[in-house]
Amino acid sequence: MINHHEMDEAKLMEPSEGVVLFHPHIPAKAIEKVTKVLSGRWIGQGPLVDEFEEKFNAEFGKNTKALAVGSGTDALHLAYLLARIKEGDEVIVPVFTCTATNIPFLYMGAKIVFADVDPETMNIDIDHVGRLINDKTRAVVVVHYGGLPCDMDKLQKLTSTHNITIIEDAAHALGATFQGQKIGSISPYTMYSFQAIKHITTGDGGMLLLPEDVYEKAKRLRWFGIDRTAKQMGIWENDIKEVGYKYQMTDISAAMGLAGLEEFAQTLALRRRLFHIYEEKLSEISDVKFMGGGCTDREHAAWMCTILVDRRKNLWQKLRDSAIESGQVHYRNDRYSIFGGSVQGLFPNMDAVEEKYLVLPLHTKMNESNVIRICETIKSGW
Ligand SMILES: Cc1ncc(COP(=O)(O)O)c(C=O)c1O
Repeated sequence: MINHHEMDEAKLMEPSEGVVLFHPHIPAKAIEKVTKVLSGRWIGQGPLVDEFEEKFNAEFGKNTKALAVGSGTDALHLAYLLARIKEGDEVIVPVFTCTATNIPFLYMGAKIVFADVDPETMNIDIDHVGRLINDKTRAVVVVHYGGLPCDMDKLQKLTSTHNITIIEDAAHALGATFQGQKIGSISPYTMYSFQAIKHITTGDGGMLLLPEDVYEKAKRLRWFGIDRTAKQMGIWENDIKEVGYKYQMTDISAAMGLAGLEEFAQTLALRRRLFHIYEEKLSEISDVKFMGGGCTDREHAAWMCTILVDRRKNLWQKLRDSAIESGQVHYRNDRYSIFGGSVQGLFPNMDAVEEKYLVLPLHTKMNESNVIRICETIKSGW
């Protein structure tokens, strides 16, 4: 079995030495915008957070409000609370994702029910979701793995006859579309991450698109349970009636977010161009299965490029010897002790791909010749 710790222990490359797996994208205007914030009065949550929320919502939301927070994980936790998921409720979630998708349910005592992957895409297997739904199911969380949207139409049809909230973890999927609709405009809750290596980064940060009728509550939960607007009026009747968190975004982060939003179209276009070169070149290699290509009803956000191969460790080593980083990035969650440890045999699709998937470099510090070199290195065998 491939041991991801071996990969983790390997010395990380500097960009000058080869092609790194991820690299932050710092927009041209970020330094200027952050510098301006640092010389002003508001460095914590201030007017730039409001501006970032409004512009983000106008770009990606529909009949929604945007709530900027300190991380994507904060956004997920708030979405789960706002969807009124309670202790003992069942939530169907992908077995293959960043642990951040599922950890907030452990804070809340909800019962996590893992669904298998679709072996064609590594997204959640919606047929399996259908078999897991019962009277206790309160929510289904989907992750658009690597940036490829899940089949939201199929999921909506499946859940519409039940009292189930769909929550989209779109940490990978900024700018993706499904049947012409932007991810962010489909479900009641959609979460984004602005962690260091995402399409837009604020260092760390997140955004939750949510229904208008829970917006006031969402703002209170983001800030200890306090109505900040009332507080800012000066004299304030200072009761707190619900337990909140300290999940706000700062103006320093929002300045970066606004700079990232301004040049997002170019960022996405470059990522998509590189992704499509990978798709074209790797599809020619019979020993490589390219994940997330060839869809006509959805647009990929090109956050990660994943392939399935046999003898993955050999390919990883071969790429490394050619100064190209690759890795697994996410691991199946059922293996982690916090989620109950290893349960064998329940996820046949995950079992089948577990030792095969490998993520290749994709970021804005790369150019087309980097991708071609990587594809040629793979084509020469491992
Ligand atoms: C699928 C997925 N969900 C959630 C998160 C958590 O976001 P954050 O790191 O901003 O808390 C990440 C990654 O960071 C992710 O990849």
